[in-house]
Amino acid sequence: MINHSTKFWEKIAKRYSEQPIADEAAYQKKLQVTREYFQPNMEVLEFGCGTGSTAITHAPYVKHIHAIDISSNMIKIAQGKAEAQNITNVTFEQLSIDELNVSDRTLDVVLGLSILHLLENKEEVITKVYQMLKPGGIFVTSTMCLGDNMKWFKLIAPIGKFFGLMPLVKVFTVKELEASLTNSSFAIDYQWQPSQDKAVFIVAKKPG
Ligand SMILES: C[S@@+](CC[C@H](N)C(=O)[O-])C[C@H]1O[C@@H](n2cnc3c(N)ncnc32)[C@H](O)[C@@H]1O
Repeated sequence: MINHSTKFWEKIAKRYSEQPIADEAAYQKKLQVTREYFQPNMEVLEFGCGTGSTAITHAPYVKHIHAIDISSNMIKIAQGKAEAQNITNVTFEQLSIDELNVSDRTLDVVLGLSILHLLENKEEVITKVYQMLKPGGIFVTSTMCLGDNMKWFKLIAPIGKFFGLMPLVKVFTVKELEASLTNSSFAIDYQWQPSQDKAVFIVAKKPG
């Protein structure tokens, strides 16, 4: 599916892969918390995996990770990194979350990191994730909620998007995100936001 945002991600993939992690300590904490939920027999999906660093880092702790991204350039870089590091239990695929077809109740963990605010149809995607998870399965998300302190962003976002400087970005609050998850019957199991201007990290559980 080629749309404006796909073109944006295709264009910046190489630059994105070269950027240092903005907050290494927060990233490490999120990896650690996620890992506490992992077991060696688990089947994991990551959507919007970007250049694959997180999937590659988590790979030794689970059975298999299916990591998808809408951008073929992101996936090419991810595949190159996995090969260089001899990681064989991550399958990278160029695919939008909308096109993904997975049977209901088959996944143990779904990761959606820095992606929910970039989707036109966040609610639909959350419901889809809920359906794909086994009872007791978890959905790990990290999301910029610009509605809490950057409401004005709503006004400039369409301009940035028009000039190809930005992808689609949706503005909502942490409370609204929590409601989207609980309305889909998820229970919030863990929540952490380093500060109000940072992404909120949530582990949501499908009741067992
Ligand atoms: C901000 S990056 C985050 C990448 C990675 N998860 C991380 O935390 O660094 C968002 C990624 O989502 C991908 N993406 C955007 N919309 C998507 C969709 N509908 N389905 C799958 N991937 C998508 C983009 O190509 C991009 O690689």
